[in-house]
Amino acid sequence: MPEGVQLWNHRPYETIEVKRLAGALGAEISGVDLSEPLTDGLFGEIYQAFVEHHVIFFRDQEITPEQYLAFAKRWGGIHLHPFMKGLDDHPEILELIKTETDTYAFGNSWHSDQMFAPKPAKCTMLYALETPETGGDTQFANLYAAYDALSDGMKAMVGGLRCHNGGDRTSAHDRKSRAERYSGASGMKLKDPGDVQTESIHPLVRTHVDTGRKALYMGSHTQCIEGFTPEESKPILAQLQKHIERPEFICRFNWAPGSLAIWDNRCCQHYAINDYAGQRRRMHRITIMGEDAPF
Ligand code: SIN
Repeated sequence: MPEGVQLWNHRPYETIEVKRLAGALGAEISGVDLSEPLTDGLFGEIYQAFVEHHVIFFRDQEITPEQYLAFAKRWGGIHLHPFMKGLDDHPEILELIKTETDTYAFGNSWHSDQMFAPKPAKCTMLYALETPETGGDTQFANLYAAYDALSDGMKAMVGGLRCHNGGDRTSAHDRKSRAERYSGASGMKLKDPGDVQTESIHPLVRTHVDTGRKALYMGSHTQCIEGFTPEESKPILAQLQKHIERPEFICRFNWAPGSLAIWDNRCCQHYAINDYAGQRRRMHRITIMGEDAPF
């Protein structure tokens, strides 16, 4: 939890307005100008909405990279992507760009960010600069709801399992290497992770530090259940992933320039929909470091 923030139960918001986007998760927040420094009270309300709704959205924000970074630092330390280069002037900001002729869209698989790291990303922010006329939405899945809906038998089975997660996965769709995939994303720059750890083992069910709730914790970085053969592990993970993708656990956000989202990687998966061939989409992404290893 960021310093100075205290969560509450059953108290109305005093400054912001919160409008739910779907039954499962997601809310649009209004009454905030993110270009201005936020008082502790206002930031506390935004954090409360984030914890309650798991992914929050703002519309019509006009912020400079400096203002964006100042806002991001309220949430924790900035995480640098081990495989992708940030902006030259602001390396903490990763530009996700898909041009009219590109074929590959960053984030086009169900995942939770940086699951390959020993302390995976806490939350991720995405700010839209250019959006397609149609398409390019992002979907989010509620991993608390997916866990809660499992049978008691399945909860008992998955409760003690841990999984291997790797950053150098091949794509869930096309089995291509990272370099091959990014040949279809002309504006995105790869980098060598050096000695940054990009393989980690995490529990398949994690407990959220802010809420104490349990969530299924897996995604396209998840490769295998510890102690299982790949053949044994694959159908279990595939069945759980299919369960997570049930429409009852999902919300979908339609971007416009100036939209900004913040999602909680500890209890959400997300999926960038690649359905806007021939159109351009440009977003600025900042990821906030996780404070603890999942437990
Ligand atoms: C991501 O996975 O961080 C990208 C999401 C998006 O571009 O919609």
